[in-house]
Amino acid sequence: MADDPSDRLFERARAVIPGGIPGIRAPGNFVPGAYPLWLAGGRRGHVTDLAGRDYVDLLLGYGPVVLGHGEPAVDTAAARRAAEGFCLNLPGPLMVQLAERLVSLVPSAEQALFFKTGSDATSAAVRLARAHTGRRRVLRCGYHGWHDWCLADDPGVPPAVSADVTPFRYNDADQLAALLDEPGAPAAAIILTPVGHDFDRQIEPPAPDFLPRVRALADAAGAVLVFDEIRTGFRLELGGAQARYGVTPDLTALGKAMANGYPITALVGCRTVMAAAQQTFISSTYFPNAMEMAAALATLDLLAGERVLERIRRRGERLAEGLAGLVRDAGLPVTLSPYPEMPFVHFDPALAADQPARRDRFYAALAAAGVFAHPRHHGFLCWRHDDADVDRVLTAAAGAAATLG
Ligand SMILES: Cc1ncc(COP(=O)(O)O)c(C=O)c1O
Repeated sequence: MADDPSDRLFERARAVIPGGIPGIRAPGNFVPGAYPLWLAGGRRGHVTDLAGRDYVDLLLGYGPVVLGHGEPAVDTAAARRAAEGFCLNLPGPLMVQLAERLVSLVPSAEQALFFKTGSDATSAAVRLARAHTGRRRVLRCGYHGWHDWCLADDPGVPPAVSADVTPFRYNDADQLAALLDEPGAPAAAIILTPVGHDFDRQIEPPAPDFLPRVRALADAAGAVLVFDEIRTGFRLELGGAQARYGVTPDLTALGKAMANGYPITALVGCRTVMAAAQQTFISSTYFPNAMEMAAALATLDLLAGERVLERIRRRGERLAEGLAGLVRDAGLPVTLSPYPEMPFVHFDPALAADQPARRDRFYAALAAAGVFAHPRHHGFLCWRHDDADVDRVLTAAAGAAATLG
């Protein structure tokens, strides 16, 4: 509608920003016309669009908002730090405190380096692994961000960069073993998400022997094992998926839930590999900023002190039970996430014909009922979601299932 303020803003945006709304937030990634184009704000487990409509937020900024939007203790800690100066010539004590905290929480962490984005942290992991081993080849599995090394054939990525990087399938240790056996190019790094959570696929837990075999294969090959826990860190357990599944990598990329949305990520790992950071150049104007570190420490205080992850899991179990019941009753050809803290109703194309249209109808109905969930990306729950939010999602999902007839 030409006189809709959201549409007018989109027109303005298209003149000054490529595509108007770039990247994964572009309208085409949701259900065009059924979702808001813009959001005005967030409070606890909810977001509000420009027209003032309220949604239960099941995407939570694609994962970082683990406590809730506008969490007072975190925002106060960040604001206090900002008022005291946070972009300084030298780092301050918070950097050491935060490194010590990560070392105390994450099994693989003996040392830590801080960054701004997940892509920074995974790229630093690959750089350190290459510097440490003197090798070039990287075997990778999962999404690791937008940097050249982990994109295969996007325009603008030099083929020489991706030539040294080979993807392997999640839960396929045989394929990984075969790749490692190929002559001529010993691997510097094996980097994978310890839980399989690719876009537009249902989340896949590791088969019982998968992570131990990957660990053993990395050891036998002399490759650095990197877990990309940008999404699972401080979500599944305080120590990440590595704590839950009992397999310790050499390096771990952490971010998202670490600071409830403030831009800070980390690479942690064993001293021997982390030492390579002193041989190669890794630096940014913003890496030592103290405000985000204050936010991270406040977030980690709450996560531990309030047993946040346990509470999220319990609420997620109630949601998962409700969803399972209505999927069963309605006979919906969908799969449900095996992780209650990361809910997802996935319309797997293998399960029925016409799935994209059914999926779009289902998710459009959810949005119309005030639930913001991504049609093709698993969701998240936060601490501030309450039982009323779960009830609202279940009522909306029952209504959405009914539209599929
Ligand atoms: C597992 C994983 N690794 C890396 C990244 C990249 O993080 P960022 O988008 O902050 O660069 C993401 C982002 O979604 C991710 O989910």
